[in-house]
Amino acid sequence: MASQTLTIRKPDDWHVHLRDGEMLIRVAPYTARQFGRAIVMPNLAPPVTSVEVAREYRKRIMAATVPGFTPLMTCYLTDQTNPEEIARGHGEGVWIAAKLYPAGATTNSASGVTDIRNIYPTLARMEQTGMVLCVHGEVTDPDVDVFDREKVFIERTLSRLVRDFPALKIVLEHITTAEAAEFVQQGGVNIAATVTPQHLVINRNALFKGGLRPHAYCLPVAKREEHRLAVRRFATSGASNVFLGTDSAPHSREAKESACGCAGIFNAPYALESYAAVFEEEDALDRFEAFASINGARFYGLPLNDETITLERMATHVPETIDGLVPFQAGEALPWSLLT
Ligand code: NCD
Ligand code: ZN
Repeated sequence: MASQTLTIRKPDDWHVHLRDGEMLIRVAPYTARQFGRAIVMPNLAPPVTSVEVAREYRKRIMAATVPGFTPLMTCYLTDQTNPEEIARGHGEGVWIAAKLYPAGATTNSASGVTDIRNIYPTLARMEQTGMVLCVHGEVTDPDVDVFDREKVFIERTLSRLVRDFPALKIVLEHITTAEAAEFVQQGGVNIAATVTPQHLVINRNALFKGGLRPHAYCLPVAKREEHRLAVRRFATSGASNVFLGTDSAPHSREAKESACGCAGIFNAPYALESYAAVFEEEDALDRFEAFASINGARFYGLPLNDETITLERMATHVPETIDGLVPFQAGEALPWSLLT
């Protein structure tokens, strides 16, 4: 008989958007309920580009969550980033990583990097100090088909970054393609990938199922089925350089259900249940703990969590809305439930 409970070390979320203000207060408790730590992305408006702003933002997150949850902060890289500010924030224990958004690639990326060469001095400093670079891996060239943006980013930019900074630790975030899975798999010890629940569960058909589906829209956008399968194989393979990053990215219902709907899927409330279903379908539940609770901490050079969590084989019914937001897999039943 299949096991009825699954107890693993407490997982961490290596990529989440917690927003700020009223939205932060609304969404952060869901992440804190499931995870011990989370890397908080810096794409606020205005973005988190200074050590002081990051410190203040961290305080607001801690005020919105329970003690015991640790937010890990990131710096938003721009054309003007000063390598010394990056090194100082890392040295003072504020920043765990810096995030590269190609300008215009996604939500609040207008201040992102317009040409990778503009941040070469910063990347050299990060390589020296061992600070991780998190990458939104999509080109923004309007001539490139939106479904090819990740693949072309790997060809044009990431390959060069890896060659020019061989000792820089890089996380290719929220991978969606066979090419990304392949690149990271072959990439050696300094490159890793995060994988979201949605890119394991849906392919691009979900965006058009019976009509236009704004709640299935995120960036990078879901790809063809063959890509979903390749990402699933890699995520559940037991490889040590692939780990959990939800990319939970809440937007108000009005902002999603609009003539120009925002990119982002709110998956935080049941992320572990979503991932566990995938690992079970792939007959890989024995590799779930490495993906969720070990590989990320090791890559970032952090201790593993001591606590454990338990999932029970009992259906979770994902509500149609949660605090006014439409969650990932709304209305669906998932086979496992997180016990609290
Ligand atoms: C994210 C957001 O809304 O902040 N959106 C998304 O679709 N994933 C930004 C990002 O990670 O690209
Ligand atoms: Zn993100």
